[in-house]
Amino acid sequence: SKGGYDHFMLKEIYEQPRAIKETLLRRLDDNGRIVLDDINLTKEDLDKISKIYIVACGTAYHAGLVGRYAIERFAKIPVEPDVASEFRYREPFIDENTLLIAVSQSGETADTLAAIREAKSKGARILSITNVVGSSVARESDDVFYTWAGPEIAVASTKAYTTQLVALYMVALHMANIKKSISEDYYFEIIEKMKALPDKVEEIFKKSDEIKKIAEIIKDKNSVFYIGRGLDYQTSMEGALKLKEISYIHTEAFAAGELKHGTIALIEKETPVIAVASQDYLYEKMVSNIQEVKARGAYAIAIVKEGLDESLNHADETIYIPEVDNILAPVLTVVPTQLLAYYTSVIKGNDVDKPRNLAKSVTVE
Ligand code: M6R
Repeated sequence: SKGGYDHFMLKEIYEQPRAIKETLLRRLDDNGRIVLDDINLTKEDLDKISKIYIVACGTAYHAGLVGRYAIERFAKIPVEPDVASEFRYREPFIDENTLLIAVSQSGETADTLAAIREAKSKGARILSITNVVGSSVARESDDVFYTWAGPEIAVASTKAYTTQLVALYMVALHMANIKKSISEDYYFEIIEKMKALPDKVEEIFKKSDEIKKIAEIIKDKNSVFYIGRGLDYQTSMEGALKLKEISYIHTEAFAAGELKHGTIALIEKETPVIAVASQDYLYEKMVSNIQEVKARGAYAIAIVKEGLDESLNHADETIYIPEVDNILAPVLTVVPTQLLAYYTSVIKGNDVDKPRNLAKSVTVE
């Protein structure tokens, strides 16, 4: 049931603090260390792994893009994320020293399963992150991490995504702890910061009225662009996918540094450009990018982390998100993008939970 909410999507957005908490806290032991029961990677196994692929589709792929940052930062192993439908046909280099991480909410996505089988046949080890216990993806993997998001009914994925992010951070930290590739202090510092995420997501829900107003502004536009750098670019891709799939507005995400290389030609008077800016070390660059699109007439909407210099930001609208470590920011920055997609779809009178032409689980190619 929708539990008093108008749509499953809104219910699932609001379930995120609880889902993140479950996914995280149920895996911490008395000493606050991560314990992953269904993952049996030893130090020997990890020392052998020379390359990790993260393979998934749609939103799960976007989680994988964030996962790359976490694994490279914490576990210090090179990671290449790829879309499953591309990966399976491009003859990627795979051997016994390869780990393939498959991310899939349903655990039944045809291309993701095919990628697993392809990698397995070449000797790779398979670790999957899925929301469905006993799903095909889980059954065909050597190691499994179950996101405890609970059933996700709306076609547009929300709580599955944020719990996939948490899962990837935890897998990365777990590997780092086994390899001793980061200090104990840093390991516990990130876990502590993750514990604070549910309350911070809750804070963002208070911005719903501001977000509804922005939905009113973008609802009749032909195109909406998302821009970001680093982990904010990954959120931009996810935000753009969410918006297009349920509002039917054309959206695209650009790496903000790429604007000058072609994409800025698309900006006209009043084109909405949503700029995600949560990364301290990239903030000034993002501020310049906002200026650039505004100079071409864009209507700039910024999603900015509190604590970054407000006086620099000249966007037309700004949604603030709570202070957060750069690496964990994607868990928060995505929430306003989910709400914006939701309210835009509602205002347009679309079938929010069952958008046209889409199925929840894509079990055919
Ligand atoms: O069940 P999966 O996580 O494997 O599904 C992957 C995609 O089909 C899915 O994330 C899709 O992109 C969503 N509709 C996005 O909201």
